[in-house]
Amino acid sequence: MVKTIYKQHLFKDKTALITGGGTGIGLRTSLELSQLGAVVVLASRKKENLENGVKTIEKTGGKAFGIECNIRDEESVENCVAEAIEKAGTIDLLVNNAGGQFPSPAEAISQKGWNAVIETNLTGAFLMSKEVFNKCFRDKGGSIVNVIANMWNGFPMMSHTGAARAGVDNLTKSLAVEWGKYGVRVNSVAPGLIHSSGIDSYADEFKSYIFSAAKNNQANRLGTEEEVAAAILFLLSPAAAYITGETMRVDAGESIYSPLVPPSEHDKIPPFKDKQE
Ligand code: ADE
Repeated sequence: MVKTIYKQHLFKDKTALITGGGTGIGLRTSLELSQLGAVVVLASRKKENLENGVKTIEKTGGKAFGIECNIRDEESVENCVAEAIEKAGTIDLLVNNAGGQFPSPAEAISQKGWNAVIETNLTGAFLMSKEVFNKCFRDKGGSIVNVIANMWNGFPMMSHTGAARAGVDNLTKSLAVEWGKYGVRVNSVAPGLIHSSGIDSYADEFKSYIFSAAKNNQANRLGTEEEVAAAILFLLSPAAAYITGETMRVDAGESIYSPLVPPSEHDKIPPFKDKQE
């Protein structure tokens, strides 16, 4: 059983496509959606992540397919959406979660590195949204949630991903206004620092950078994958029918940090999570 606050069968008869669905926030979102009745299609560049994700979902009784896809490549996105429709019948919900970046001072980022991060985090969300709209959502509506980041004050040491995610925040509004008449809602979530499963694969220096900033928020801790997934599910759900073009911050106030009243040490906002560490 997957821990959830949502009612059983909330996403019954729905099909969700989740990019980067094999790991981290994407997998957590996929697990919870499938537990609530959705058929989930995981899209990822990495076959082993897909296999692992599908297995994890099936173990909890959910139904999942994995499709290899490079979201930076238009043809790969077209093939992915066609295969998803072929395997699952249709797509009702899209979560643009896949992303990738690397820490670097701006002056050391090559054009190739810059372009790669923009293509993954901004172009990928655009290509996937466009293809799913053209093949499914134009005719029957749907809901899109993009996963971006806390880039509201810039994103020092990852300027490429900050620029890309700010672009997706803006794209969220453009698509919401263009596609509302088709019954399509488009929203984003902007997580703060999350203790995601991928964190352990980061270089030690970068990991300690994250942990050193862990308490710069009102919960005085890192966020959990479950806390981000809960927000994504809400925005996908019919309860958010009157919300579109919005970005919901899931950062315990990290983005409104004030040096005038710095967060104090406490544990009064315990994490929403499945398992104790
Ligand atoms: N995750 C990170 N980069 C990706 C890409 N280009 N395509 C799909 N998933 C990804």
